Amino acid sequence: MTGFAAAVIVAAGRGERFGDTGKVLAPVGGRPALAWALDAMEAAASIRDVIIVYGAHNEDVTRALVSTGPWTKVTTFTAGGEQRQQSMANGVRAVADDLEVALIHDAARPLIRPDLIDTCADRARETGAAILAVPLSDTIKRVDAGTIMETVDRAGLWAAQTPQGFRRTLLGAWCETALDDGIEFTDEASLGEALGHPVHIVPGDQLNIKMTHPEDRELIDALLRRRQEDTGVRYPRSGIGYDVHRFAADRPMVLGGMTIPFDRGLSGHSDADVLLHAIADALLGAAALGDIGLHFPPTDPQWKDIDSRDIMSHTIRLLRANRWIPVNLDATVVAEAPKVNPHVPAIRAQIARLTELDEGAVSIKATTNETMGFVGREEGIAALATAMIAPLEVSEAS
Ligand code: CTP
Ligand code: MG
Repeated sequence: MTGFAAAVIVAAGRGERFGDTGKVLAPVGGRPALAWALDAMEAAASIRDVIIVYGAHNEDVTRALVSTGPWTKVTTFTAGGEQRQQSMANGVRAVADDLEVALIHDAARPLIRPDLIDTCADRARETGAAILAVPLSDTIKRVDAGTIMETVDRAGLWAAQTPQGFRRTLLGAWCETALDDGIEFTDEASLGEALGHPVHIVPGDQLNIKMTHPEDRELIDALLRRRQEDTGVRYPRSGIGYDVHRFAADRPMVLGGMTIPFDRGLSGHSDADVLLHAIADALLGAAALGDIGLHFPPTDPQWKDIDSRDIMSHTIRLLRANRWIPVNLDATVVAEAPKVNPHVPAIRAQIARLTELDEGAVSIKATTNETMGFVGREEGIAALATAMIAPLEVSEAS
C-alpha cells in the first residue's frame, strides 16, 4: 500500500483535567506520549504525511522531540487554537492536495495500533467518514447533582476514539461550513453528524485509552512497558561500521573529529572523517536505525559539507530518542600514512566528548595494510568500528 492518507496529530491542548500542561509530552513507558503516537503513524502503511498541531505552550519541546526522533513522515508543524476543533481545522488546512484521506488523531492516545490506523484510513477512503469507537461496557446512568435521573439503555452506545478518518475534500468543506455557521463540536464525527453525513464505525481497541485524568497515566504507562518487553528491545546490542575515503590533495586530514597535520586530506562530502563515519554506522547499526547514508544523505542541502562531529552528535540524539545509549566503542584505522598513534589520545578524548562516553570506553587503534591493496598503495584510508549500546533507563531519559 502506498500512503494515501495524512495523519493530523492534535497536540495543542492544555491537559487541564490531567493537571499537566505537558500532557502530550509527559513520559509514559519511558517516552513522551507523542513519540508513541508518531511510532504508530510511522508504521502504518496508509499514512504518507504526518502533520503536528502544537500549542503555544509546547511548541519548542514538540519541535525538539520531532527533530531528534527517528520519524520520517512529519511534513508540517502548525499552531493549534483555543478549542480542539480549531486545532483540527488548522491541521487539516496543512494536508497536501494529492492525499485522499485525512485522519485526525489525539496525541494523548499513545496506545493506538498501526493496523487500526490502516483500517480506519481504508474505511474513510471507501465511505467518506469512519472513526474508531468501542462499545460501552458499564451500565450508564444520567446523574444530576449526585442523584441518578435515569439508566440509559446501553444498547447501541459506543465511545468515540481516534483516529477519525475522512476524505480530505469532505472534511475540508465541513471545516469551512463549521466556521461560517459557528458550529461547535468536540470531535470531527459530530461535525459530520450535524451536517447529515453518515459516519461509519471501525471497532477500536479498549486499550486505545486517552490520557485524560492523572490516574490514566499509571495504566497507560504499564501497558506501554509491557509492549516494550514484548518487542524484546531491552537488551544490550552491538553494531558494526566500515568506511573508506580516497586521499585528496589540498584538503585537511580530519580523523576522529581532529585535524591532523599531513600533506593530504580525504575526499568526500562533508569533511570525509572516515573514522567518525565508521563509528556512527556502528552505533546506528546496533540500534537497527539504518546508516549514515540514510540519515545524512549528501543530496540533502542541510547535510552538505556537514562537520562529521555534528553527524556524531546527531547520531547520539537519534539513539537517545530511541531509548539507547552507547556503552563502548572500538575502532581500527587502516592506513599506511599518516601515523595515527601519536594522535590517539586526542582522538579518544574528542570521541568520548561527542558520544558522551568515558574515555575508557573509547578504544582507537591503527594498523597499516602491509603495502597490500588500495590502502597499501596509499590510495586512501579505511576504518572499522564496533559499538555496544544499552537501553536508556527511564530515569536517565527525563
Ligand atoms: N487538543 C488540541 N487543541 C486544543 C484542545 C485539545 O490540539 N485546543 C488536543 C489535545 O492535545 C489532545 C486531544 O486534542 O491530544 C484530545 O483533547 P483532550 O483530551 O481534551 O486534551 P486537553 O484539551 O489537552 O485536556 P483538557 O480538556 O483536560 O484540558
Ligand atoms: Mg480538552
